[in-house]
Amino acid sequence: MAGPAIENLFREGRSFPPPPEFTAQANAADPAIYEQAEADWQGWWASQAERLRWFKTWDTVLEWKAPHAKWFLGGRLNVSDNCLDRHVDDGQGDQVAYHWEAESGERRTITYAQLKDEVCRFANGLKRLGVSRGDRVAIYLPMIPELPVAMLACARIGAIHSVVFAGFSSQALVDRIDDADARAVITADGAYRKGSVIPLKQSADTAMDNTDRVRTCVVVRRTGEDIDFTDGRDHWYHDIIADESAECPPEPMDAEDVLYILYTSGTTGKPKGIVHTTGGYLTQVAATQRLVFDLKPDTDVYWCAADIGWVTGHSYIVYGPLANRATSVLYEGAPDHPGRDRFWEIVERYRVTILYTAPTAIRSFMKWGPDLPAAHDMTSLRLLGSVGEPINPEAWMWYAEHIGGRRCPVVDTWWQTETGAIMITPLPGLTATKPGSAMRSFPGIKAVVVDEQGQAVEPGGGGYLTLQRPWPGMLRTLWGDDERYRLTYWSRFGEDVYFAGDGAKLDEDGHVWLLGRVDDVMNVSGHRISTTEVESALVDHPAVAEAAVSGRKDEMTGQAIAAFVTLRGDRQGDERLASELRQHVAERIGKIARPANILFTPDLPKTRSGKIMRRLLKDIAEGRELGDVTTLANSDIVSELKQRSTAATEGE
Ligand code: PRX
Repeated sequence: MAGPAIENLFREGRSFPPPPEFTAQANAADPAIYEQAEADWQGWWASQAERLRWFKTWDTVLEWKAPHAKWFLGGRLNVSDNCLDRHVDDGQGDQVAYHWEAESGERRTITYAQLKDEVCRFANGLKRLGVSRGDRVAIYLPMIPELPVAMLACARIGAIHSVVFAGFSSQALVDRIDDADARAVITADGAYRKGSVIPLKQSADTAMDNTDRVRTCVVVRRTGEDIDFTDGRDHWYHDIIADESAECPPEPMDAEDVLYILYTSGTTGKPKGIVHTTGGYLTQVAATQRLVFDLKPDTDVYWCAADIGWVTGHSYIVYGPLANRATSVLYEGAPDHPGRDRFWEIVERYRVTILYTAPTAIRSFMKWGPDLPAAHDMTSLRLLGSVGEPINPEAWMWYAEHIGGRRCPVVDTWWQTETGAIMITPLPGLTATKPGSAMRSFPGIKAVVVDEQGQAVEPGGGGYLTLQRPWPGMLRTLWGDDERYRLTYWSRFGEDVYFAGDGAKLDEDGHVWLLGRVDDVMNVSGHRISTTEVESALVDHPAVAEAAVSGRKDEMTGQAIAAFVTLRGDRQGDERLASELRQHVAERIGKIARPANILFTPDLPKTRSGKIMRRLLKDIAEGRELGDVTTLANSDIVSELKQRSTAATEGE
């Protein structure tokens, strides 16, 4: 993989100062930004908030009663007003907000003025359908322009959106509808994925059959196939917007009103409803978009290739870019459809200047080879970003060389659904980057790596990543479960220390290197999935008696899911049952949660108190030497499992 050019880059000591031409034009070009933010971090965030449009300015920057923060108290604003009206009022209505590209090649260009009109029409439609301020709306849509429209329409009238990734199952949708008590669902007849049609409305129907909460369902026509329509409940999106006015005054929201809920996997089977509010969230996504991505609204074409169903898309396809009046690419489909150069074709067509994607995608591109990007004109690119999982130095180098043409700074950005926005990152005009390191806290943020006792480690040390100061984009609580909020994030090292769940080390210069999750959360292709969630889905199958799941290292996807399953009665496991179980997990959660390996075993290794030894299973799945297992209640099973695991891997 490492050609001579890459080796040369490695020899440079693996620290890449920003090109002077980049610094000369950068939004953050003065290193004093860090000291200024440190000297008065609340004041610094307030100066970022001042860049937004407020109907009423705040009285208090921060009220911190650990672990609860309130930012910009007394302030009033509207997110959709900031993302749309503000730019149209500035005379920028003709600027392109999104270049939408469908998987099929169909294209649509949407200006800020057009986006505002459509958002207003749909916002009026939602009101007419009985959705009002504070109501929860579940959005289950593919990557089509109606997805950001629906989110912004909710924001405009003060309804709380809960976007459910369109790759999730109907069961996942119903769980989220019930947890948030959502009364309205916005979906599409179908979605395209690699040329085939996914029957989204059918999934939504199954979900709505299993709950009596939903009063209203709005359906976007995307694929045109036949769907069932329930009179009184279901409405076509195009009918709704056709009847409505394009005037809809934005609702003045309190800075602390909830903007959205986004569910993410935790260490138990039940997903957590992460709650984000209005003023602080928008302040941090807007500031990071401008400073980390060096966004220049007049000249850049920005592309974040994530799905809006995840937080990356919420913050860096919808709210961050629109708040900064960016022109973005919105791409519906997969990176390898119809060809493996689809991304580079898009970069070339739109002259993309900033690209933000995940290490898993970069590793796929590496596997597909440098000839594909080399066949396209990618000279428009000037900055590259990475997010979602630790990026291995080789992938970083390949990205810098073959996509960035050695011109582009690479920003590896660490953050989470919970943090709302980027927390640890280089600033591209200032930071000498190191491949594989997310480098340092964004100005105003205080990330600290601590040991078991919660003491900060010295440079060269490793431990747990914590955040030791509130930040504007932070989650405020878990929807309907404040106790779980305290316990999950604020109990391990004290009430005012946020524990992120990640391991990290500091290098000799004090720069941060992320090491992956230290809890039972797996990270598969940058997507968070909890081991318990997959275990519950497996034991839900009638053949399964017990299941234990562990993430194991995988070259492409970061981690892959390994499942150990014991069956009921004397049922024997075989390949057919294994694929049935995989399918079952896909139906319960979604395809992304399907185990890569299923190993049938007569028993699982347990301690004498009956606890499954997950760490041992991880060692087995990763083919590591096992330590002393004699304290187990059933140590004989371990050698058998090892044998079976080796046999299964050889047979792969
Ligand atoms: O383990 C970290 C990993 O992804 C987790 C957060 O996942 P999620 O909430 O789905 O958000 C993903 C996109 C923001 C983190 O706890 N992670 C995210 N970014 C990085 C990362 N690990 C290493 N380096 C990163 N840049």
